[in-house]
Amino acid sequence: MTRTQLPAWKALAKHKEQLANFRLTEAFTKNDDRASTFSFEAAGIFADFSKNLITQETIDLLINLAAACNVTKAMQQFRQGEKINATENRAVLHPLLRASKAPSSELNSDVTDVQAVKQRMRVLSEDIINGKLRSATNQAFTDVVHIGIGGSYLGPSMIYEALKPNHTANIRCHFVANICANEIFDTLNTLNPETTLFIIASKTFTTLETCQNAQTAKNWLIEKLPSNAIHKHFFGVTTDLQKALDWGIPKDHILTFSEWVGGRFSTFSSIGFVLNIGLGADTFDALLQGAEAMDTHFFTAPFEKNLPVWLALIGIWYVNFFNKSNLCIAPYDHRLRHLPAYLQQLEMESNGKGVDKNGHPLSYNTCPVIFGEPGTNCQHSYFQLLHQSPAFIPVDFILCFDQPYKDKTHHQWLIANALAQSQALMVGQHPGTSEPFYEHKTIPGNRPSTTLALNTLNAESLGALIALYEHKVFIQGVVWDVYSFDQWGVELGKQISKKIHPQLASTGNLSNQDSSTRQIIQRLKEA
Ligand code: F6P
Repeated sequence: MTRTQLPAWKALAKHKEQLANFRLTEAFTKNDDRASTFSFEAAGIFADFSKNLITQETIDLLINLAAACNVTKAMQQFRQGEKINATENRAVLHPLLRASKAPSSELNSDVTDVQAVKQRMRVLSEDIINGKLRSATNQAFTDVVHIGIGGSYLGPSMIYEALKPNHTANIRCHFVANICANEIFDTLNTLNPETTLFIIASKTFTTLETCQNAQTAKNWLIEKLPSNAIHKHFFGVTTDLQKALDWGIPKDHILTFSEWVGGRFSTFSSIGFVLNIGLGADTFDALLQGAEAMDTHFFTAPFEKNLPVWLALIGIWYVNFFNKSNLCIAPYDHRLRHLPAYLQQLEMESNGKGVDKNGHPLSYNTCPVIFGEPGTNCQHSYFQLLHQSPAFIPVDFILCFDQPYKDKTHHQWLIANALAQSQALMVGQHPGTSEPFYEHKTIPGNRPSTTLALNTLNAESLGALIALYEHKVFIQGVVWDVYSFDQWGVELGKQISKKIHPQLASTGNLSNQDSSTRQIIQRLKEA
């Protein structure tokens, strides 16, 4: 039975029809307790779902849908290490990266391995910070360049920027992802090779962008220092020890992790080594503790009060019953400015799939397009569309109640604006017909949003926030009946680029190319 044939699915479709005249403003007027009924806190994250187009019946029916899709069983299989990433024949065990204890004795040795790598990261990062581990010219390192892309980049760089204001850095961290030369050369041009350390972060150690950037970094280093300097100036973080060794990184500079860590779920593996250096191992531990607190909540709380489950199911409510295929992530905090990009990969690479687990084309939508910018900047770009376009787009507002500066005025304006936006989306504006251009000034309102609030933006709360969205993705994948942990769609473009690349440099025949591709290659050659 496909998902749309489930009685629970059909009940939701019917319920949606019954809610045709539902108005959020009326729901608040009728029920003084609406805010508290649809709000709860878990692992330090307060979630207010009350500005969503939901009633208690909606929640009950969504939970019925989760039950009909065997979500509880899927959670157990995930937790126990079954090979739920079937198309790659792998278990999916990223919660073990932050587990203080294995969920079963079969997973004890995995947790022991994780702890050993964590301990190595602690010792190595402290040695780097304290200047014990020194450069080829016997100097303390001043800068670290983390080279990686996708899941080997987005999480560490997002977290570094978010938590940097809380730390006095001894060592500056830089991140390079794009194969565009501007990124790596702009970074290298500011650095001194004698005091620069590189981390090559790649699960596979084969990714084109990372390999090319790593090679450029190596060339830059040995142009200025003896070639054996790479032994002191490079670390590798990967699942493929041999490839890192073959590249020239000595074994004691390689930190491995397991195949069961998906790329976009790998921030808390040794992919996060840079965070140990830039923010300290204690901060890295605190991130893991925050994530573990959310894991514990996720695996134990009833669905009626389970934060990742609600976030996932309310997302499904809009995608599948309102046919809304976008989700706006609006962190009202400059420190979280890279969060939307991080969530884009997490959600869209996981659940942007077109067939169910049996390989049948889906007759319903899956992952929405995730986009976002920090507030208040987003208000001055695309929020116009959110308020008035017919295509209403749900929003996740993310607020932090603290800020590291003494000045309160900025922060109060920031929060006032976040609250104003969620309220404006809900209430809209309804000028009288005598008002000139009243149609243009009308704002329909009744547009939904969720507000997530962190008391303090610190390592614990950020760890919990990351785990919250990770588990949201898991639940949605189960309900949509897709494999969330593979990413076959990204392979084709990589293969084609390998065929096009030699044609850019050669004078060879382009007749195997379509005429559009051919004309651009020709123009490039003539430019
Ligand atoms: O191209 C997609 C992808 O495979 C992601 O899933 C992954 O996070 C990224 O590339 C980087 O891969 P790697 O860590 O193996 O370099």
